[in-house]
Amino acid sequence: MACANFVKLNSASSSWIGQKSPFGQRSQGSSTRRVSFSIRANSYTDELVQTAKSIASPGRGILAIDESNATCGKRLASIGLDNTETNRQAYRQLLLTTPGLGEYISGAILFEETLYQSTTGGKKFVDCLLDENIVPGIKVDKGLVPLPGSNNESWCQGLDGLASRSAEYYKQGARFAKWRTVVSIPCGPSALAVKEAAWGLARYAAISQDNGLVPIVEPEILLDGDHPIDRTLEVAEKVWAEVFYYLAENNVVFEGILLKPSMVTPGAEHKEKASPDTIAKYTLTMLKRRVPPAVPGIMFLSGGQSEVQATLNLNAMNQTPNPWHVSFSYARALQNTVLKTWQGRPENVEAAQKSLLVRAKANSLAQLGRYSAEGENEEAKKGMFVKGYTY
Ligand code: 13P
Repeated sequence: MACANFVKLNSASSSWIGQKSPFGQRSQGSSTRRVSFSIRANSYTDELVQTAKSIASPGRGILAIDESNATCGKRLASIGLDNTETNRQAYRQLLLTTPGLGEYISGAILFEETLYQSTTGGKKFVDCLLDENIVPGIKVDKGLVPLPGSNNESWCQGLDGLASRSAEYYKQGARFAKWRTVVSIPCGPSALAVKEAAWGLARYAAISQDNGLVPIVEPEILLDGDHPIDRTLEVAEKVWAEVFYYLAENNVVFEGILLKPSMVTPGAEHKEKASPDTIAKYTLTMLKRRVPPAVPGIMFLSGGQSEVQATLNLNAMNQTPNPWHVSFSYARALQNTVLKTWQGRPENVEAAQKSLLVRAKANSLAQLGRYSAEGENEEAKKGMFVKGYTY
């Protein structure tokens, strides 16, 4: 049961470090303070490391289609479709049965409804993914609500019952999880909001690992605001410092997590735009200052950037070797053209699947640092930023 590969502090012993023994004695003959280490018995540790590694594999990234029913409704409304279970199933079926998707996509984040759903032909969506060597993932947070005592900021719900839900998701085939909380620069951010975001992520990460799910750690720093890029860097450094502090306090195995950061960019309403090289330079500076190399993968969110912009920025980050796999976990920047091509019509499914493969391949090339935007259409260059975006 106990896994000897990772030496971890358990919660009972971690408070002893650098302190006197709670029993007020030192072992006989020892002049140094005792630090108590123990090996935590998590039967999933090896599997978590393996899962994280396979998601962070060269030339591949994550397809995020974990929109809540409300947000999926907005996607469907953009092409004139009603938000019914049948329409959501049809859309997810289009995406998850795209032939050859596994060449570029290593993991897919699903909403709970999709995890338990099947194609109209009766094949479980989970099995469609496994056939393509894609790891099924699940959104486990319960969304954002106002944070009392803050500056109009929010906190992310979902810790109650998370252990039992996670165990059920594992049985259903999920092997990784996602929890998205947000930090708003124009709202401060307040120290309270940052601490709450970081603590919530750390508790979620520990619970996920305890139940065999690799946690994706996502404190999204929203694009909203007119601040310069240096301000985003400052906030991102603060947020990630706090996240890693609490991850360590909660004894999370860093080799068995994945990160989903925002890229470091100027605020969406800032007067100057930044080039992909500048965004790459700032983002990598922030990550190198804050993220230990034990973490296997950095899977960026797109955050309202255009499809092409998100791909160009990722490509710029992969021009020189990084300590971690630097890749994508995009929702909007993988789905936009697909939706517009599909329009809810069965006769457009094949063309829409081809457009998904075009975007997935472009981002695969960007993960390898070999993408060029030559030949990209105008639609893919349109930004998708929405103020106060929820998921
Ligand atoms: P995008 O910002 O890429 O749309 O997605 C955010 C997200 O958290 C999806 O899981």
